[in-house]
Amino acid sequence: MRIPSDFLLGAATAAYQIEGAAHQDGRTSSIWDTFSHTPGRTWNGDTGEVAADHYHRLEADLDLMASLGLEAYRFSISWPRVQPGGSGALNDLGVAFYSRLVDGLLARGIRPIATLYHWDLPQELEDAGGWPERDTAERFGEYAARIVEVLGDRVAMWTTLNEPWCSAFLGYGSGSHAPGRTNGASALAAMHHLNLAHGIAVPEIRRAARNAPQVSATLNFHVARARDENAEDAVRRIDALANRSFTGPILNGDYPDDLILDTAGVTDWQFVRSGDLEKISAPIDLLGVNYYSTVTVSEWDGRSPRTGNDGHKGAGGSPWPGSEHVEFHPQPGPQTDMGWNIAPDALEELLLRLHAEHPEQPLLVTENGAAFRDEVVDGRVRDSERERYIEEHLAATLRAREAGADVRGYMVWSLLDNFEWGYGYAKRFGIVHVDYDSQVRTVKDSGRRFASWIQSRELAG
Ligand code: FCB
Repeated sequence: MRIPSDFLLGAATAAYQIEGAAHQDGRTSSIWDTFSHTPGRTWNGDTGEVAADHYHRLEADLDLMASLGLEAYRFSISWPRVQPGGSGALNDLGVAFYSRLVDGLLARGIRPIATLYHWDLPQELEDAGGWPERDTAERFGEYAARIVEVLGDRVAMWTTLNEPWCSAFLGYGSGSHAPGRTNGASALAAMHHLNLAHGIAVPEIRRAARNAPQVSATLNFHVARARDENAEDAVRRIDALANRSFTGPILNGDYPDDLILDTAGVTDWQFVRSGDLEKISAPIDLLGVNYYSTVTVSEWDGRSPRTGNDGHKGAGGSPWPGSEHVEFHPQPGPQTDMGWNIAPDALEELLLRLHAEHPEQPLLVTENGAAFRDEVVDGRVRDSERERYIEEHLAATLRAREAGADVRGYMVWSLLDNFEWGYGYAKRFGIVHVDYDSQVRTVKDSGRRFASWIQSRELAG
């Protein structure tokens, strides 16, 4: 299978998952610092204090990316590193780090794709109410403008938010992500203010940038399957809450009617003010698509024990406000080390659906990858399962493109093993292995394969 020459191949990471240096050079705490330091919140009490120590190993990691031949690198900017406390002047030392990163990428011919928000809200903004408060969206717009003013001559593509569904519904609904709150109405208010934050930031980015960058948002899609013939409504509800809650306002300028009805018992939707939807639906150049697996749902019969197996770590609350009666079923295998099923065809289907619904919208796969248990043996990591996972999903992406979806590239998650949020360091997603004691990096077999595809532009299939 041919990989078109203009199809971008790269790798992705996020600041809190790899950087470490959590208190260095003026960085203040984010909600993930607070959350991960709270007993019981993460596996083994793991935190991002040191992570993959990328902050101190920037040059070597840049060389590593170059050695893999990456065409693009998708990273995120830590808001509390560049704007400590979430308001006011930028922190020169924090900005200098990202400036070196961007320059280092450009010097190696790697396209910088910067995400402004990959979940690390400055703690002070959470203390002031967090994403359920409208002002957080305004603060985000200000942060976006300031950082683009300094990096906006060199970054090729800006992404406002990574997976706002997780920020809203895992952060404020289920409580499995920072800040760990469990309130359905707050989760829905957070959803809207994240959408609004995106909408406020888009024109700020375009105004502040000096190189006409591409502007995007990255969403994580739930591809929901019906378990039986009575499950259509359950599929519709999950699709509304997980997917259309963001594609609706961002791409269509409206919240779906069924979402508003489904959640009417949870919130009165007063958080949507006149003019918001016009802002939120400002055109974007690319829609980022993150995809890992599918979910299978049905209506709960009210009797059988709940499995609650929706692929997300449980933490007491629900990420499905108003649809708690939807039951999630264990997925048929094969599965990754996350317990997520492997279903590459669903990625093809998702991209084709997005294309059918939004024919003019270019797409980019901004995350896809898999956790498996890896071992370094004689300096080598034989991660054939990950290799296959990536190959099958890359092939599915290319099939969708051949069938007409305007998919511009594929970013593997992740460049490095890293802090996998609530799962701490227990789950390894990297195409490069990280030994957390020595910080030695070892390119896994999957990394070598990925590099060979970039070079040959050919998938063996
Ligand atoms: C996504 C996140 C990313 C990583 C992968 C496995 O939801 O965006 O940071 O945790 O899942």
